[in-house]
Amino acid sequence: MNNDNMDGWVTSQLGAVEAALDRLVPSNTPAGLGEAMRYAVLDGGKRLRPLLVLAAAEAVRGDEGAAMRAAVAVELIHAYSLVHDDMPCMDDDALRRGKPTVHVQFGEAQAMLAGDAMQALAFEVLTPDDGMAPALQARLVALLARAAGHAGMAGGQAIDLASVGRPLTETALRDMHRRKTGALLQASVLMGAACGQTDASSWDALRAYGDALGLAFQVVDDILDVTQASETLGKTAGKDSECNKPTYVSVLGLDEARRQADTLRDQAMAALSRSGLAHTDRLAWLADKVVDRHH
Ligand code: IPE
Ligand code: IPE
Ligand code: MG
Ligand code: MG
Ligand code: MG
Repeated sequence: MNNDNMDGWVTSQLGAVEAALDRLVPSNTPAGLGEAMRYAVLDGGKRLRPLLVLAAAEAVRGDEGAAMRAAVAVELIHAYSLVHDDMPCMDDDALRRGKPTVHVQFGEAQAMLAGDAMQALAFEVLTPDDGMAPALQARLVALLARAAGHAGMAGGQAIDLASVGRPLTETALRDMHRRKTGALLQASVLMGAACGQTDASSWDALRAYGDALGLAFQVVDDILDVTQASETLGKTAGKDSECNKPTYVSVLGLDEARRQADTLRDQAMAALSRSGLAHTDRLAWLADKVVDRHH
């Protein structure tokens, strides 16, 4: 797929995701909670997870309304994970998406509650009373819950905090990254795929694509932490070494981390090739973006 085609698609999808978030994240809530939620999730972020949902849904000719709900739900979980990740009890960060973090802007208790409410809202968004097939609602909820909880993001974050100052083996590091970041990215792909029809072998190939891309994403995040400036990242650079976190760069070195990111991109592309699906160009383009990005 050429870049012009893809740029047009990305621009229109990003506009639609932003509009859906604006519509679904409330402002009329008790005690200003909605303001903190909207601050956390609107006007910022690359929206990679929503784009993966929508690209995967297109690859399987999936239901567009359901896919947009899935895209919003995944972004809500992701944005909530960032709010909590930045809190003083976790990474203690003051900058996110080019703005002061939610706890800096609104206070710690409000940041915690905004994250809680965003998590609940994600599942509310997936279970509308508007005729969306109940079986699809249940499937999407299950995929997202599993990726967000103890087996996925939250579990990975627990390992991350328990690993401060400890030299992890490469296997343990990979496991942590797969959970804390990879699981939600893989779920984005699978939630998009669940909006349409797939056979078992296409599903397995998309699962493998999501696994490789999800791990690549965190490997590159580790690389960017040491190679880019805070202004480019919109978050504090050099944070991992400051906090003594084991990362792909600290454990394997920058060159090997880059090599592994490239290998994971190749694995993601190979999985798409064996998926048997005709329309995977957008997913391929997104895998390139994940590895070649600068922020
Ligand atoms: C940052 O994710 C946190 C990780 C899981 C590494 P993103 O780099 O996708 O952050 P936004 O959504 O663009 O802000
Ligand atoms: C965060 O990993 C993963 C999450 C689940 C939020 P990091 O702590 O490396 O993310 P950044 O670098 O702060 O965005
Ligand atoms: Mg962290
Ligand atoms: Mg962090
Ligand atoms: Mg990071």
